[in-house]
Amino acid sequence: MEYMNQIIQGDCELVLQQIPDASVDLIFTSPPYADQRKSTYGGVKADDYVKWFLPKTEQFLRVLKPTGTFILNIKERVVNGERHTYVIDLILKMREQGWLWTEEFIWHKKNSYPGKWPNRFRDSWERLLQFNKQKKFNMYQEAVMVPVGDWAQDRLANLSETDKTRDVSKVGSGFGKNISNWLNREMVYPDNVIHMATECGNRNHSAAFPTDLPSWFINLFTQWGDVVLDPFIGSGTTAAAAIALGRKFVGIDISSEYCQLARERISGIQIQLLSPRSSQGAQDQHGNSRPE
Ligand SMILES: C[S@@+](CC[C@H](N)C(=O)[O-])C[C@H]1O[C@@H](n2cnc3c(N)ncnc32)[C@H](O)[C@@H]1O
Repeated sequence: MEYMNQIIQGDCELVLQQIPDASVDLIFTSPPYADQRKSTYGGVKADDYVKWFLPKTEQFLRVLKPTGTFILNIKERVVNGERHTYVIDLILKMREQGWLWTEEFIWHKKNSYPGKWPNRFRDSWERLLQFNKQKKFNMYQEAVMVPVGDWAQDRLANLSETDKTRDVSKVGSGFGKNISNWLNREMVYPDNVIHMATECGNRNHSAAFPTDLPSWFINLFTQWGDVVLDPFIGSGTTAAAAIALGRKFVGIDISSEYCQLARERISGIQIQLLSPRSSQGAQDQHGNSRPE
């Protein structure tokens, strides 16, 4: 089966069985949320979610390279007045499957709708769970550095004596910081909260995430020419981001309609990248030139 740079229609659990072991550098995906969107593409009951998902993560584990990363965009929904525990249960089961739960990023949705609920406030964040196969994985932190911004003026203006020396962690984590090291720097490493507006242009898919979201993780965990897999590709956002950044992609969706949508979307981007103007001297964030 031809799978590289393709949008493949089918159940990802089955399609992935045809993809070789250790062939993918990054898996970035947002699966259907439990029960949530039954009317559009069939939800899975919250109580059944882990059972439904685990055979898929087993395939993800197999196709991911040892140095690769899996980022799972997910958020537990409210069932009978409380947050369901399927995400927590899933993390525990995935650890049993062999995954390391390395990190959790938060996607803060800057433009969430205002609203009033009797016992909670509006939901304005989602989890981006990071899983790895081993402790040492590829990570290109320089690719996502951010301007130091206002923090520098406020925090660095009044440095204490502790700030000027190495402040050994008070919680015994073994990490310390010397804040004055960051004086006069224009760029710093970001934190693990990503502030990004949701996609307003809808893209004919009810659950599309903004292109900047996969782009950020593609930059962080892959290099030019690496392979990015989204097993629930929907409208093709992850593939679009991968192509624009010069990465290869594999996209899978169970819906033929969404596959068609994704193919149409990325065909434009491929043409854009292949145009003579964009291929001249193109460089990625690591300074590597685009291979011809
Ligand atoms: C949350 S949406 C993904 C949206 C996508 N991130 C985007 O930006 O458009 C989840 C997608 O998973 C697809 N899906 C559901 N079950 C699937 C399965 N077993 N295998 C592959 N795709 C599936 C749905 O058709 C849906 O498009």
